[in-house]
Amino acid sequence: KITPVILSGGSGTRLWPLSRKSYPKQFVNLIGAHTPFQASARRLTSANGLTFAPPLVLTNADFRFIVTEQLADAGLAPGAILIEPEGRNTAPAVLAAALHVAASDPDGVLLVAPSDHDIPDSKAFHDAVTRGLEAVAEGKLVTFGISPDRPETAYGYLELSTQPDGSGAPIALSRFVEKPDASGAAEMLAAGNYLWNAGIFLFAARDILAAFETHAPALVEPTRAAVAAAQADLGFLRLAPAPWSTVEEISIDYAVMEKARNLAVVPFSGHWSDLGGWDSVWREMEPDARGVVAGDRTTAIDCRDTLLRSESEHLEVVGIGLEGIMAIAMSDAVLIADMREAQQVKKAVTALRAKE
Ligand code: GDD
Ligand code: MG
Repeated sequence: KITPVILSGGSGTRLWPLSRKSYPKQFVNLIGAHTPFQASARRLTSANGLTFAPPLVLTNADFRFIVTEQLADAGLAPGAILIEPEGRNTAPAVLAAALHVAASDPDGVLLVAPSDHDIPDSKAFHDAVTRGLEAVAEGKLVTFGISPDRPETAYGYLELSTQPDGSGAPIALSRFVEKPDASGAAEMLAAGNYLWNAGIFLFAARDILAAFETHAPALVEPTRAAVAAAQADLGFLRLAPAPWSTVEEISIDYAVMEKARNLAVVPFSGHWSDLGGWDSVWREMEPDARGVVAGDRTTAIDCRDTLLRSESEHLEVVGIGLEGIMAIAMSDAVLIADMREAQQVKKAVTALRAKE
C-alpha cells in the first residue's frame, strides 16, 4: 500500500491574477473540469494493480477547508491533513510527511506528488509507478523523468547513467541538477542523456529519512519536534509552530535530491505538463492553428500565439492583431503580458504587494 503525499502549499504567483494568495492555482479550474489538486488526488486512487491509502495532504492553514471541500467534491476520502503553520518549502513538508507515515509504518512507501501538474493518462502513470516500486524495493529514491523538448530553466534535470532501452525500467542517476541557468539547460538538452524531473517522488519512508539524516541533518530535529507536538484541530493535524518556524526553508530538490547517490529514474513517456505559468496553460489548452486560445467572453481578431481569458461574467476581452500576448481578465485585475515573460508574472505580485 502506497501513501500519496500531496503537496499543495504553494502560492502559484506565476498564474496571477487567476491564482490568488487566498486561492492559489492548485485549487482553481485552470484547465478541464477538475482543479489541479483534485486531478492529483484522483490520479492517486487505487487502480491498475496499485493500492493507495487515502492521501496525506500538506498545506497551510488558509487552505485547509478548501482541501476538504475539494476532496469531497471529487468524491474522495481524505487521509491525514497536515497543516504547516507557515510555508517552509518542500523539503520540510516531505520530511514531516515521512515522519508521520514512519510513526505507524516504517516500511511504508510514499508517493510525493505536487498539485500543479497535468498527467491525462493515469494508466501510463500507474504503470510507471509499478516499475518504480522495483527500485524502491532496492532502497532507491525514485524520480520520474520526462523527455525534454526545450531548454527549460524552471525544472530539475536528471542525468542518466545509461541510455533508456525503451522498456521504461528504472535507470540509476548520475546526477540531479536543479533549475540550471540558460546555458546549462541548453547544454543538457543538446547532450541528450538528460530527462526533466517531473517533481514526483517514490520512496520508502525509511530511505528518505536516512537521506535527510545524511544530506540535510539540520532539518531533522526541528521537523521531528513539530510532528511530535502536532495538535489535532477540527480533524486537521497542525504542526507545532515553534519548532517549525526554525526549520530551514529549502526545497527537497536542493536539500536531498542533488546530493543523494541512491537515485533512480523511471522514464515517463505519457503526456506531462507542469502548470507553472500562463505559457504552459496556453500550451495545455490546445491552441488553434494560429496558436490562439480564446475562451468564453473573448474574441480574437487577427491574433497569433495569443491567450485570451475572461474570468468575469461582466468582461468581454477582445484582442486585435496581437502576437505572443496573454491577457487574463478577472473582475478586479487584468494581466496583459508578453508570453515570453510568463515566468516573470510573479513580479506583478511582488510589485502589488509593495503598494499595499
Ligand atoms: N505543503 C507545501 N508546503 N507545499 C509546497 C510548499 C510548501 O511550503 N512549497 C511548494 N509546495 C508545493 C507546490 O504547491 C507544488 O505543488 C509542489 O510543492 C512543487 O513546488 P513548486 O514550487 O511548484 O516547485 P517547482 O515547480 O519550482 O520545481 C519542482 O517541480 C519541477 C517540475 O514541475 C522541482 O521538483 C523541479 O525539479 C521539477 O522539475
Ligand atoms: Mg511547480
